[in-house]
Amino acid sequence: MRDICFIGLGYVGLPTAIIAAEKGGYNVIGVDNDKEIVSKTNKGQLHIEEPGLEETLKKVVNEGKLKAWLTPKKCDAYIIAVPTPFKANHVPDISYVEAATLSVIPFLKKGDLFIIESTSPVGTTDEMSDIIFKERPELNGNMFIAYCPERILPGNVIYELSHNDRTIGGLNDASSEKAMEFYSTFVEGSLYKTDTHTAEMCKLVENSSRDVGIAFANELSMICDKAKINVYELIRLANKHPRVNILQPGCGVGGHCIAVDPYFITYKFPEESKLISTARKINDYKAAWCAEKIKKAIIKFKHRHDRKPAVAMMGLTFKPDIDDLRESPAKYIVGNVIQEYNNADLMIVEPNIESHNVYKLTDYKKAYQKADIVVFLIAHKEFKTLEIDKNKVILDFCNINKI
Ligand SMILES: NC(=O)c1ccc[n+]([C@@H]2O[C@H](COP(=O)([O-])OP(=O)(O)OC[C@H]3O[C@@H](n4cnc5c(N)ncnc54)[C@H](O)[C@@H]3O)[C@@H](O)[C@H]2O)c1
Repeated sequence: MRDICFIGLGYVGLPTAIIAAEKGGYNVIGVDNDKEIVSKTNKGQLHIEEPGLEETLKKVVNEGKLKAWLTPKKCDAYIIAVPTPFKANHVPDISYVEAATLSVIPFLKKGDLFIIESTSPVGTTDEMSDIIFKERPELNGNMFIAYCPERILPGNVIYELSHNDRTIGGLNDASSEKAMEFYSTFVEGSLYKTDTHTAEMCKLVENSSRDVGIAFANELSMICDKAKINVYELIRLANKHPRVNILQPGCGVGGHCIAVDPYFITYKFPEESKLISTARKINDYKAAWCAEKIKKAIIKFKHRHDRKPAVAMMGLTFKPDIDDLRESPAKYIVGNVIQEYNNADLMIVEPNIESHNVYKLTDYKKAYQKADIVVFLIAHKEFKTLEIDKNKVILDFCNINKI
C-alpha cells in the first residue's frame, strides 16, 4: 500500500490524513467537496482548531506527501470520514457516507482497502459493501472492507490519533487483517480485531455509556435541588466508595457525538434501548429545567426589587474552553430564556468566540460586574477567575467553584 485517499477533510479526516502521511509515510490524497478546505489544505493552512497540527500539515504538504483535491484519485486504500448527522425525528442520515462511497467506486481495483471511519448505524458497512459489489461485481471477494471508528478528543488529536487503541471490524478476517496492517503503520495503541457490526456498535455504545452516566448525574442534580442538598458535595462523597464513580452534572449534554450517537441505537432498537432513550430525554430535559430555574429567578428578583434584573448568561459552547456550539444545551437555554421571558436585561457571554450571528456577546468581566443574576452554564477557565460576589444571585449549573 503506497497511495491512500481520505474522503472528508474535517475534524477526523484531516488530522488522520496528516498523521498517515507523516508517520505512515504514505502518499496521501485528501478529498473534500468544500473548495475552501481543499485550497487552504494545499497552502498548508489548517481549517480546524487543533494545537500543533498546522506545523505537521505544512511539512507533509511541502514534502509532497499530502495533496488535497475536490474529487478522488486512483489509490490503494480509501478512508471515509464524512459527517453522519441525523434527520428529523432523530433518524440517522448516512447519505454522506453513501455519496462518498459512490464517488470512489469508479477508482476501485482488486486488492484495494476500503475503510469507513464515520460514526455509523449498525449495518452501514454491509450496506456500502452491497453498493460497491452491485456496481463492481468483479471486486466481490477481491478487495478488503472494514469499519474502524475514531475516538479522538479535539484539542488532543496529535497524541490521541497515535496512542488511542482502535477497534477494527472487517467484512471478513482477511479484511480485518489488511486494515490492522494499515493502522499499525501510524497507530501505537493496541488494535483489536472484530466484525463490522461489533465495531459499528462499539462506537455507539462508548458514547451512549457516557450519555447514560451523565444522565444519572443530571437526574441527581434535580433530585438534590428539591431535597436542598448540594449535588457536587454529594457526588464527591459518594465517589469515596472504592467502586462508585458518578460523573458530573451539567446544563445538559451537547456536541456532535454524545448527544447524537445514542439515537443511532434507539432508532434501530427502539424496544430494547429504553435506558439509552431515557438518558437522552433526561439530558435534554436538564437544559429545559435550567431554563425554567433562570426564568423563576428573574421573576423572583423583579418582585423583590421592583425592577428588571441584569442577567449574565455565562457560556454558549457545549463544553468548557472550546469554540464549538454544535447541539449545545447552553445555546438552547439562552434561546429559551430570551424567547419566553425577555423582560430582563440579558447579557450573553462566550469568551471562546469573537462574535455570534444571532447574539450580541458581552465581555465576561463586564457582564459579571453589571449582573444581578449570574448563570454559570459552562465552566470556562476565565469564569473560574471571577471573585464570587455574595450580593449577586448565582445559578451554578456547572460546578464553577469545583467542589
Ligand atoms: N469530530 C470528532 O471529534 C469525531 C470523533 C469521533 C468520530 N467522529 C465522526 O467522524 C465523522 C466525521 O466527523 P468530522 O467531525 O470530521 O466531520 P466534519 O464535518 O468536520 O468533516 C467532514 C468533511 O467531509 C466533507 N464531505 C462531506 N461529504 C463529502 C463527500 N461526499 N466527498 C468529500 N468530502 C465530503 C465535508 O465538506 C467536511 O469537510 C462523523 O461520522 C463523526 O460523527 C467525529
